[in-house]
Amino acid sequence: MADDKPFHLQGNFAPVTEEVTAFELPVEGALPPELCGLYVRNGANPVTGHSLHWFLGQGMLHGVRLAGGRALWYRNRYVRTPYFENPEIQRVSPDGRFDRVASAANTHVIQHAGKLLALEEGSFPWVVDGELGTVGYHDYEGRLQTAMTAHPKLCPVTGELLAFGYGQLPPFLVYHRISPDGRLIQSEEIAVGGPTMVHDFAITTNHVLFMDLPVVFDLELALKGSMPFHWSETYPARIGIMPRTGRSADVRWFEIAPCYVFHGLNAYDEGDGVVFDVCRLADLWRSGGNTLDPSRITLHRFRFDLAAGSVKEETLDERAMDFPRVADARVGRKHRFGFSLRFASEKPGAASEAGLLKLDLERGSSEAHEFGAGCVPGEPVFVPAAGADPNSDAGYVLSYVHDENTGRTQLVVLDASAFTSKPLARIALPQRVPYGFHGSWIADPA
Ligand SMILES: [Fe+2]
Repeated sequence: MADDKPFHLQGNFAPVTEEVTAFELPVEGALPPELCGLYVRNGANPVTGHSLHWFLGQGMLHGVRLAGGRALWYRNRYVRTPYFENPEIQRVSPDGRFDRVASAANTHVIQHAGKLLALEEGSFPWVVDGELGTVGYHDYEGRLQTAMTAHPKLCPVTGELLAFGYGQLPPFLVYHRISPDGRLIQSEEIAVGGPTMVHDFAITTNHVLFMDLPVVFDLELALKGSMPFHWSETYPARIGIMPRTGRSADVRWFEIAPCYVFHGLNAYDEGDGVVFDVCRLADLWRSGGNTLDPSRITLHRFRFDLAAGSVKEETLDERAMDFPRVADARVGRKHRFGFSLRFASEKPGAASEAGLLKLDLERGSSEAHEFGAGCVPGEPVFVPAAGADPNSDAGYVLSYVHDENTGRTQLVVLDASAFTSKPLARIALPQRVPYGFHGSWIADPA
């Protein structure tokens, strides 16, 4: 009967049932002793064993703590929100109002102002501790009046956390600026044409970028508990660029070819313009249904000319990829290197295994790391080497790699500067880690 299940409940997409704690994990190879911190990744792990969509399962964090060349522990923990405690909870009322506390808390986990935050874009952040125990929800002392994106951007220069919330009722889009010490200091409604799904955004040194794309809210789907969005043939696709301390009236909107973007790689200011690299789909959920064919996602560049008010678009790489990341220190600044997850392809003549890509955007070249037949990595997270030039590739790439042949998962550490070489270290985990979403390297304080 397994074949009757949707993809997100089969194989290594299926949830695990145990919360496990294990110490002193076996390491194959040599773990760089300078890696001292926590690698933690979030994902959907439906507590009942079932969910209507991959994105709707309850959030489970999987963390591995590294220090001094050892893998000290592995823990996986649910984020214990009301949606975990009661999976049947009604998260949306008949008038379209969402319960912001009952988060799935399944999409990302970041650290800001000393708090580790489990994020999901329809809800408030949830604070977890360094051993992944749930602390409680966080609404910035009541100042956060909307949901918060799972993809806020931590400015590596100022320490601010720049974010937004979107909703199904007005205000549809609200920009938030959070100070380095964790105070919400600006919330600004951004005027848009209606409620759309806004998964990510981008920052530069001087600007923030909003994506207002034609995947629109659908209350009927929401009330069924499904992914509450569908493709619109009429809603215009636009990207808005605003000064970081600006207001809605300051947004410059640029119409682009219809598309959907789950994830940007990064954006930066250049001369009179802004460059924004993204993983782009030509459409999403166009023919009803809400499955996703990752083979259609490609790497794409928008180049905005703020003086001329124009935008140019180009495909940078036709290969199917997503989960793009730059070094945390390059967020909002010109990047040379990026990393992404390349999806397996069964295209005749272009069949490939899933793997990780290292993109050199300056040279227009790339390198691929494959882990062997049936071995599937997740999002690559770059950790800089101590004292390295922040725009270099000196550092490490961490990713959970699942071996579908053995049913086991490892945390793999690659040398980012020798990307195709065999991994520096492979850490055996005590149970499989289901395919999931986003994570972070939380370095120990220096
Ligand atoms: Fe995401």
